[in-house]
Amino acid sequence: MLGLLTVLSIAAAVCEAPEPPGSISWTQSFDKLEDYEVARTERVASEIQCVTLASRAASAQVAAYDAKTELCRTYRCRMGLPHCRKCRNVHKGNQSVWTARTNCWTTIQHRISDSTSFGVGYHRYKKGFGEGENGNFWIGLRTIRDLTSGPERQLLILMKLWNGTESFARYTRFSVDTEDNDFKLFISGFSGSSGVGDDLAQFNGKRFSAKDDASGDTEEDCARDAKGAWWFAGCPDGHPNGAYQTSSAVPGKGQGVIWSRPYGAEYSLKEVEMLLI
Ligand SMILES: *[C@@H]1O[C@H](CO)[C@@H](O)[C@H](O)[C@H]1NC(C)=O
Ligand SMILES: *[C@@H]1O[C@H](CO)[C@@H](O)[C@H](O)[C@H]1NC(C)=O
Repeated sequence: MLGLLTVLSIAAAVCEAPEPPGSISWTQSFDKLEDYEVARTERVASEIQCVTLASRAASAQVAAYDAKTELCRTYRCRMGLPHCRKCRNVHKGNQSVWTARTNCWTTIQHRISDSTSFGVGYHRYKKGFGEGENGNFWIGLRTIRDLTSGPERQLLILMKLWNGTESFARYTRFSVDTEDNDFKLFISGFSGSSGVGDDLAQFNGKRFSAKDDASGDTEEDCARDAKGAWWFAGCPDGHPNGAYQTSSAVPGKGQGVIWSRPYGAEYSLKEVEMLLI
């Protein structure tokens, strides 16, 4: 068993550098698997055979072996995402698994209920607030700036509707400007799950506005009406920082946690999470 694990960890260490196509490193972990679905279950004689099996399947992201039943399960990301490992789930599981990636998505925003108001002032948006990344959460503009001021970052937005449907939007380039430049948003390279449209292009190049900005722009009024600060461009149809509703119904157009393409400005999402890699 020890020999087996040594062989596997050497293989993993050797492949730690950027992966050439067809070769993926596999490392042992205890990740929570809530973002995955079982791709395949097969009986094999050993853990190493299970990892080998997984490494040959293009979409396999995780492998788990049960020595008692000799069952090897491989998992792929739900929704067809090529990579769904969230940092908030890394080492939070209770079962030994093998994962194909060492990097993970950092949660920067998360909405799951109305227990945290997002209708707060600029100061709190700068510093961050909420219940931590598993709950309602805003990591803070200063941190987002720090995270995006170096090498290019991707943004992933995961959405859940009230009927259980899940969808995503992805941007290959996401960064925010310095505090002196009002954390201006730079975003491009959209793709998304079936039917989901590019809701954020309209905010590209816009400054971040909260309800208590000193600038006197109409954007402040939008922040007040929408009960959440954002990179406003006039008053948009909505945004993911809007007031959380306890059903899809909104009190007024755009007043909810909104992704308007295709759900519209009168449908408030059950959950949304913004992540960076
Ligand atoms: C792992 O945790 C889950 C959820 O807390 C629990 O239902 C399950 O029994 C645990 N499994 C083991 C092997 O401890
Ligand atoms: C879930 O709700 C959305 C938005 O109302 C709708 O477009 C979709 O068809 C629904 N899906 C299911 C499976 O009911």
